[in-house]
Amino acid sequence: MLKNVLLEATEAGAKVIQYYFNTKNLQISNKEGAYNPVTEADTASEKAIFEVIRKHFPDHFILSEESGEMEQASEYKWIIDPIDGTVNFAQGIPVCCVSIAVEKAGEIIMGAVYNPFMNEFYFAEKGKGATLNGEQIHVTKKADLNKACIATGFPYNYVESENDPLTSIGKFIKNGISVRRLGSAALDLCWVAAGRLDAYYEHKIHSWDGAAGYIIVKEAGGKVTDLQGNEYSVYQPGILASNTILHEDMLARIHQ
Ligand code: IPD
Repeated sequence: MLKNVLLEATEAGAKVIQYYFNTKNLQISNKEGAYNPVTEADTASEKAIFEVIRKHFPDHFILSEESGEMEQASEYKWIIDPIDGTVNFAQGIPVCCVSIAVEKAGEIIMGAVYNPFMNEFYFAEKGKGATLNGEQIHVTKKADLNKACIATGFPYNYVESENDPLTSIGKFIKNGISVRRLGSAALDLCWVAAGRLDAYYEHKIHSWDGAAGYIIVKEAGGKVTDLQGNEYSVYQPGILASNTILHEDMLARIHQ
């Protein structure tokens, strides 16, 4: 039941974002930062997702990017990003998705990420592996960081500090390591799970950006921690996901 509702809610959001993609005169407002858009598609996607969840589980807690916390005394919490990769979406770049995770008693137990523009539906349930369009996926086996292809992202509000995003990216680029910036943390994580990327890290994401991708990477055999190497919590900003083999080397490189 939980899984079916998660899949239905993710599909409902994806249908909405497909409808609005490349719409002329898309209504866009801005959140904090120079260009941090929220579009009418974000709010419409969120509404469609809420409708599905509320129909089946009216008493579950919901945490969603555009509406914040809808607190309920439930052990179940739905963590929702109605469009992850909103800048891409607003620009007509088809690297964006709907991302929804289910947390039970403080633990992420299921996640779904759907990029309808590439027809790619990622799903994972605790202990049951991760899939892309129903087929099992696995992280890479690469062991040499110098041959790795990794991804990162940057915050909307850049604040210069010690070992900030510009400092850490330099440690990879100066050594010739391939670094990608896709613009969707949820898809960065899924692409680590699917073996397209060997690792992904970012200094500051939100719970809704990372929650579903976190369990998808774990169930694909990867490792996900904060930037200090502690088990990842969606309620703190730093994230490092890898194929497990490269994890210590990634941490060492970020902090060197
Ligand atoms: C953003 C994207 C981006 C990442 C940012 C996120 P949004 O989410 O995931 O790749 O670098 O940190 O905030 O705003 O598109 O939902």
